[in-house]
Amino acid sequence: MARPVLFSTRRLPPAIEARAARDYDARLNPTDKQYADAELTRLAQDADAVLCCPSDRLDAALIRALPAGLKVIGTISVGYDHIDLEAARARGIAVVHTPDVLSVATAELAFLLILAAARRAGEGERLVRSGRWTGWAPTLLLGERVSGKRLGIFGLGRVGRELARMAAAFNMEVHYRDVARLPAELEGGAIWHDDDASFLAASEVLSLHAPGDHITRKWLNADRIAMLPRGAVVVNAARGTLIDDEALIAGLRSGQVGFAGLDVYDGEPAVHPGYRALEHVVLLPHLGSATVETRDDMGNVVLDGIDAVLAGQRPANLVS
Ligand code: DGY
Repeated sequence: MARPVLFSTRRLPPAIEARAARDYDARLNPTDKQYADAELTRLAQDADAVLCCPSDRLDAALIRALPAGLKVIGTISVGYDHIDLEAARARGIAVVHTPDVLSVATAELAFLLILAAARRAGEGERLVRSGRWTGWAPTLLLGERVSGKRLGIFGLGRVGRELARMAAAFNMEVHYRDVARLPAELEGGAIWHDDDASFLAASEVLSLHAPGDHITRKWLNADRIAMLPRGAVVVNAARGTLIDDEALIAGLRSGQVGFAGLDVYDGEPAVHPGYRALEHVVLLPHLGSATVETRDDMGNVVLDGIDAVLAGQRPANLVS
């Protein structure tokens, strides 16, 4: 019997490609070429399943052009803002994602950004690499202590809660803002704020962990940046769309924001050129979930979901 066709838009970790090739007529992408829409839809012809990721943009037009027999789109990500769910639903295509398995890795990356930004690791690394470092000096690259500071988490979901757990080891007082207060067992002692002003005023370090959608778009704007304590550290390992870049750049220039660490960008891989001109911003290329273990876990979770849909079952990781 012919095996179902699975088309992957990008190269996958070896263990995941091996599993895909074992179970499917797998159309993989060994050169990791980023396909233009027309090429992607041509290569996906006859596919029962499409495996995509956040660097793809599956808008309504692209989804309409996908093959008639397509049953499921799996994304190797917890976020699905790159997929037009409405268009997928209209065609009866299931969408599955990879919740939970990347929470620790993404929280680690957020914490890395907090430390790297506050302790000026990017500037220090560039100094050593440039060969311009002339030795220890009492005033060289003085940053800010992170331990004992108040950490504001915007979005106390799976990743936010992992970050809160890590922050406890740094003796940080955790504050959070979310659509509703969480039950005590999930709150884990974090302090809930039901308004932006009190939340932001408490956030000496602000880390964003909300999904990227029309509600959170440019949430961190000039008005909210003005509510932060002067010199606050701002970190984003969630979605670039959460930040009004012009406002954050202005905040960094004026000193209202002391340091920033960014892993995600509005319109990435394009990065607002204003950030590149600022030394006190740490810029990473969307590495939140980029560990070998996590990417294997993500690949297995997404394949589990695709397997389930094609077997006529309801997967645990169904988005819609
Ligand atoms: C996700 O899963 O949405 C992340 O952004 C990928 O690391």
